[in-house]
Amino acid sequence: MSDEDAGRWSARTLAAQALGRIDEPSRAIVPPVHLSSTFIRDPDNFYRSGNSYGRPDNDTVRVAEAVIGALEGAASTLVFGSGMSSAVALFLSLGPGARVVAPRAMYYGLRVWLATEAPAFGLHADFVETEDLLALKEAVEARSTNLVWLETPSNPLWGVSDIEGAARIAHAAGALVAVDSTCATPVFTRPLALGADVAMHSASKYLNGHSDVVAGALCFARNDALASRSRAIRKTHGLILHPFEAFLLTRGLRTLDLRVRTAAANAMELAHRLSNHAAVSAVLYPGLSHHPGHEVARRQMQGGFGGMLSIRVRGGAEAAIAAAARVTLWKRATSLGGVESLIEHRASIEGPDSPCPPDLLRLSAGIEDVEDLWRDLGRALGG
Ligand SMILES: Cc1ncc(COP(=O)(O)O)c(C=O)c1O
Repeated sequence: MSDEDAGRWSARTLAAQALGRIDEPSRAIVPPVHLSSTFIRDPDNFYRSGNSYGRPDNDTVRVAEAVIGALEGAASTLVFGSGMSSAVALFLSLGPGARVVAPRAMYYGLRVWLATEAPAFGLHADFVETEDLLALKEAVEARSTNLVWLETPSNPLWGVSDIEGAARIAHAAGALVAVDSTCATPVFTRPLALGADVAMHSASKYLNGHSDVVAGALCFARNDALASRSRAIRKTHGLILHPFEAFLLTRGLRTLDLRVRTAAANAMELAHRLSNHAAVSAVLYPGLSHHPGHEVARRQMQGGFGGMLSIRVRGGAEAAIAAAARVTLWKRATSLGGVESLIEHRASIEGPDSPCPPDLLRLSAGIEDVEDLWRDLGRALGG
């Protein structure tokens, strides 16, 4: 389908057909995997194909970028070799001397990078409860701020930050807003439409969805200097995604809508059932009406609250670890967003500064039969 045509169809349709593109030379409806690391230069010394070398240029990678960009409504999209490298590229593109305001509760690996590695690049990060707009405003206005980083819903407590409200605060102070939208996915939230300047994904999670690719993406509201700088950093630092992975990512994207909606329906059902389980002291899920972020989530998340939830187990860390040891269908593993359900004692993997309580189990609901998931989990929690 042409670019004008693409504007007529829904995100679900665009993803299912990977934008409906065909490979012209073969007329194949599945884009090929281009593996060549180098490309023929024209006799007059130009590269009219747009491809010169595999690090900056790959058509299979560009297909994945085009599909993700269409889903997020982005002007420019870049995929990377991991979610971490995509986020790091964005932070580095701010340049030395920049200040970032980030959430207290966020993906721990990135929080650790901001706290311990970023200073070596001249970046300073302050951490605040981004769910609280007054606290966020105070932090943003306390000193000159270049970027507000949000993650919503956020790992592993599933706090909800108000993207529109945060964008108003940040933009009034001359700062940009970037949102780690890994767990919301473009099915439920489109950060750029809510005023964010950049949406970021660990594409290792829902976008690919089959736990067999590590990838990341940055989606820019404008094809501006920030996007160009991030592209240059990807090229010069070699933060690229291999064409095989890009091919798998595009294949996964075709079923994003089905997978994410089924996972979210399973998560909602499990959240309700777990709320009445004697071994569970709390269920953290933005879809539950008593969740502190529920009202913002209802406004900001269209059609579902995602597939991620956490529970706190009566009896503390030991009881939580013992319950996780008893599952047979759920997989005891880190990561999230795949078709298979995962369970993890999160404090075991997060560092000492983590806000994660020791009795917390993080659940990534997959797309299995929810009755099977419930039977396995209920038995594990029951002892
Ligand atoms: C919300 C979130 N953001 C970023 C990342 C980092 O992504 P990756 O593992 O693809 O580098 C993760 C990984 O778990 C994540 O859960």
